[in-house]
Amino acid sequence: MNKKTHFGYQEVDELDKKKFVGDVFTSVAKNYDVMNDAMSFGMHRLWKKILVELASIGEEDFILDIASGTGDISKLISKEYPNTNIFMSDINYEMLDEGRNRAIDESFSRNCHFCQLSGEELPFKDNTFDVITVGFGLRNFTNKERGLKEMKRCLKKNGKLLVLEFSKPINPVFSKIYDWYSFNILPKLGSLLANDSDSYQYLAESIRMHPDQDKLKNMMLTSGLSNCKFFNLLNGIVAIHIGYND
Ligand SMILES: C[S@@+](CC[C@H](N)C(=O)[O-])C[C@H]1O[C@@H](n2cnc3c(N)ncnc32)[C@H](O)[C@@H]1O
Repeated sequence: MNKKTHFGYQEVDELDKKKFVGDVFTSVAKNYDVMNDAMSFGMHRLWKKILVELASIGEEDFILDIASGTGDISKLISKEYPNTNIFMSDINYEMLDEGRNRAIDESFSRNCHFCQLSGEELPFKDNTFDVITVGFGLRNFTNKERGLKEMKRCLKKNGKLLVLEFSKPINPVFSKIYDWYSFNILPKLGSLLANDSDSYQYLAESIRMHPDQDKLKNMMLTSGLSNCKFFNLLNGIVAIHIGYND
């Protein structure tokens, strides 16, 4: 029997999850940026800026942005550190294509390379990158442990991994309001702005199935990363995890 995993609240064969996730992002690609702003009231921009600050990037670093989607994180890095080499990468062609077009249109493609790949099987040699970022991507992986091990393998000595992801709110009252928003408002917003409520129902469910702050930190430690820590944003609705390859 095939191994099982979750796609939102559904239990599915591991072999099928990649296709289901692919369908979600193919469906949302064109409206992804508008929806991101609407859902988070623009706050995702600030969270990504904080991630880039925490990355303390060197002027000529090699950077891998996994699950780069439409390229928000790569854009911030490219504009602030024009001499870095940024590998924008995503498993989904439509999302990567949106990101590449945007990089050209918004003049940040000069130091970007574009690769369609899975974060679970990185086609890079050991010790390649100074910094690896994953913004709101890890949640969608079929095998997060495998992905984290691959990221650790591809980091140079003293390189760092930063994971920006939805996490678990700390305050129980806040958590209730957030649940109400996620399951009542998000799918409606998806339907209204992108004619797609299912993808935003998946978003709400996948967030609940994702490991909380401590669990993800332990997974990063288990993958071989050191000095792992996390920073909660917006009461833990979002967290940034950092781990080092020492
Ligand atoms: C929510 S979007 C995040 C995009 C961008 N990083 C951002 O923060 O706006 C998640 C992205 O993860 C990508 N993705 C899902 N599974 C992946 C995998 N196994 N490897 C690489 N990318 C993956 C999707 O195609 C999608 O573009």
